[in-house]
Amino acid sequence: MGTKIVFASSNNHKLDEIRPLLPAQFELLSLADINFADEIEETGKTFEDNAELKANAVFNATKQLCFADDSGLEVDALEGKPGVKSARYAGEPVDHQKNIELLLSNMKGRKNRKARFKTIVCLRFDSKTFFFEGVVNGLITEEPRGLNGFGYDPVFMPDGFQQTFAEMSLEDKNKISHRKMAITKMTGFLLYI
Ligand code: IMP
Repeated sequence: MGTKIVFASSNNHKLDEIRPLLPAQFELLSLADINFADEIEETGKTFEDNAELKANAVFNATKQLCFADDSGLEVDALEGKPGVKSARYAGEPVDHQKNIELLLSNMKGRKNRKARFKTIVCLRFDSKTFFFEGVVNGLITEEPRGLNGFGYDPVFMPDGFQQTFAEMSLEDKNKISHRKMAITKMTGFLLYI
């Protein structure tokens, strides 16, 4: 049995993405696995705040090694928006299609289409807190392209590629994704400590 590490998320899509990235000596547990059912509200103003408050909520309840992530899209021409509001850019309930429509309408006629996906991972380890960042730079396309992925993938074309994230296979996206980058930094650190 490996060292147990709790991921402060109940998102199965993320769990599946993260599980293969963890070194074999770690056993990844979800919130469901530890019977943690409390709703953790993401009230922070930054990705760091939100990742930390999720990690703290789980650590305070379980005292187990745990980590949480928070991600979003930052667009230069929109002063970093939608940022921490990425999931609910067009309001409640979360609607990725409406978010994309609002983003493209706010980007209409803009020459500067630079943007980045960012993930911050917060690791809680005893009384210590560590942060790891993953960033992928790219451009916002004029129109949605592709059917894979989720969220803003159809309108985000990473630097060095002619395809949007939604035109890439999940396998190819995950080789360069912000989430993968942040998690890989964390796993490198876990092996070191
Ligand atoms: P989360 O914090 O990882 O759940 O991400 C919050 C929101 O950011 C998501 O609901 C999406 O709108 C957006 N987002 C984060 N990562 C991605 C991605 O890899 N592709 C597309 N959208 C993303």
